[in-house]
Amino acid sequence: MKKVLITGGAGFIGNHVVRLFIKKYPDYQVYNLDALTYAGNLENLKDVEQSENYHFLKGDINDSLYLDEFFSKHQFDGVIHLAAESHVDRSISDPLAFVKTNVFGTVNLLNAALKIWKGNLEDKLFYHVSTDEVYGSLGETGYFLETTSYDPQSPYSASKASSDHFVRAYQNTYKLPIVVSNCSNNYGPYQFPEKLLPLCINNIKHNKSLPIYGKGENIRDWLFVEDHARAIDQIFHQGKVGETYNIGGFNEWKNIDIVKLLCSIMDRKLGRETGTSEKLITYVTDRAGHDMRYAIDASKIKAELGWEPSLQFEEGLEKTVDWYLQNEDWLNNVTSGNYQDYYSEQYQN
Ligand code: NAD
Ligand code: TYD
Repeated sequence: MKKVLITGGAGFIGNHVVRLFIKKYPDYQVYNLDALTYAGNLENLKDVEQSENYHFLKGDINDSLYLDEFFSKHQFDGVIHLAAESHVDRSISDPLAFVKTNVFGTVNLLNAALKIWKGNLEDKLFYHVSTDEVYGSLGETGYFLETTSYDPQSPYSASKASSDHFVRAYQNTYKLPIVVSNCSNNYGPYQFPEKLLPLCINNIKHNKSLPIYGKGENIRDWLFVEDHARAIDQIFHQGKVGETYNIGGFNEWKNIDIVKLLCSIMDRKLGRETGTSEKLITYVTDRAGHDMRYAIDASKIKAELGWEPSLQFEEGLEKTVDWYLQNEDWLNNVTSGNYQDYYSEQYQN
């Protein structure tokens, strides 16, 4: 593999994947295609942007003419597709934006890849990065397996499920070599502060309330973002074409417990009296259609590819908090401007 296209490389997970590929594969040419929406930020790749094997291209996956030209010019050997609208709350206010990028955009990319690879599919790969949310919501027991039926419950997960179906349909119909992975909730450096953990880190810093939806009893399975990037690397290089791999942290937390843990770490790091940040916790109206529990069974990727999470959760969370405290400028930049409007609209204050 020489020319790899990574879409959404300026986003949270994408920047970790781009960085890993640039550093680990100096003989590859790594192309990052990103529209730089509110969630994409070239600051995320400042440390590697001068690398000789890295190329950034600002472009929208909804623009099929641009994609066709771009693919025919660069003749990629592989695609790792991460570009998406990714926040459930935004999908509740604007579902069509999710249909557009996550469904139409993905089909545009599939078409562009198919056009240049047709007749020569050997050693090509279209890797679609998806989410565990496509499987729906679990009760108190059970896990999502690769064979679990899709049952998406939010506009976000419905759009991701639809894109997964298109990707598999392109393999079945046109023999496009594909692979799909479905990962649990990621956390770590460079996550946009609309998602639970960075939002709470930012609010604790500024002594603002910590909005917990409903009773805070919903459960998520958390994975450090660099471990997800490692899994993507392994699946891209060693995964079997046509397969699905679930990726998870074996690490379930109730929202209220994870926020309390975060509060205690923040108190210690900020030199505040124990219990100070917890007082900021405020229960707010629940998210509409809020999925109760996600939990991944990641035994297939462990057995077949030898991947497993490398970090204990507490260690990963400490690293994450340190990163946000050391990167105040980044946090201030991304929370200026439009973020304030989003925040007031979402949390009505
Ligand atoms: P993100 O929102 O942080 O980043 C998305 C990136 O895609 C941004 O850089 C944005 O500019 C870009 N983008 C959006 N629309 C685009 C368009 N039309 N054309 C080109 N680029 C566009 O998302 P993330 O959290 O990094 O997630 C990346 C992928 O991983 C998504 O497909 C998401 O569904 C999946 N995923 C995320 C998580 C998670 O916990 N964050 C978990 C599992 C799977
Ligand atoms: P989030 O980070 O948005 O990820 P996802 O919805 O994809 O799992 O939310 C994680 C959990 O935290 C989810 O159960 C919703 C909850 N949550 C809150 O309680 N308050 C908030 O302000 C946010 C953003 C999320």
